[in-house]
Amino acid sequence: MTKRITVAIDGPAGAGKSTLARRIAAKMGYLYVDTGAMYRAVALWALRTGVSLTDMHRLEQLANEARIEFAPGDSGGVLLNGEDVSEAIRAPEVSQAASEVSRIPAVRRALVSKQREIGERASVVMEGRDIGSVVFPDATVKIFLDAQPEVRADRRATEAALPREVVAEQIRERDRRDQTRAHSPLVQAPDAVYVDTTGLSIEQVEAALLKIIRDRTSNGKERTE
Ligand code: DC
Repeated sequence: MTKRITVAIDGPAGAGKSTLARRIAAKMGYLYVDTGAMYRAVALWALRTGVSLTDMHRLEQLANEARIEFAPGDSGGVLLNGEDVSEAIRAPEVSQAASEVSRIPAVRRALVSKQREIGERASVVMEGRDIGSVVFPDATVKIFLDAQPEVRADRRATEAALPREVVAEQIRERDRRDQTRAHSPLVQAPDAVYVDTTGLSIEQVEAALLKIIRDRTSNGKERTE
């Protein structure tokens, strides 16, 4: 009998979700799924085709029709309708548009359904904002990664090569929007393990997460097919 494992990693921007989720997926041999990339891909498609970010009906259509695929392995590669958009989706205007698109319930429904399909086919490490609370409420392991806002701003500023104050303001704004939106706001699931990565190295967090995952998966909480 094959055991299918779902590791859900949620948390705010800059908490270290992508780096950690990717490393954990590689270590465990699971598929890494970056759900933020899916909202970004829909946003990119809307920007490229001139669809207004207030046109809920067209955005819902795009979310339903988008063919979003993840490259196997831990490269973090994302394909939209067959095109490699891994870099294009990281542009600042796409971050902004993704945040707006992610507020639309019909878009969320379409993408959540794609996320469930992926997680039902394979063992995954899936990261986002609502994975443990909405997408997979029965996930094998749920982790909520967090860090102090200044630390998150520093990490993003380094990645984006932007001044710290600019990024700190962007992060505050995105946190506020992600936490206060009406549908699937960023919340910690009651049964998620809270991990504060402030002051910890990637290796230290990775070791902590692997321990949590191994403890959970060796004590019979696996989902069985
Ligand atoms: O993690 P990220 O920055 O790539 O996410 C892009 C946007 O999508 C961000 O504004 C939060 C939103 N998002 C979401 O609402 N739900 C998810 N599961 C993942 C991301």
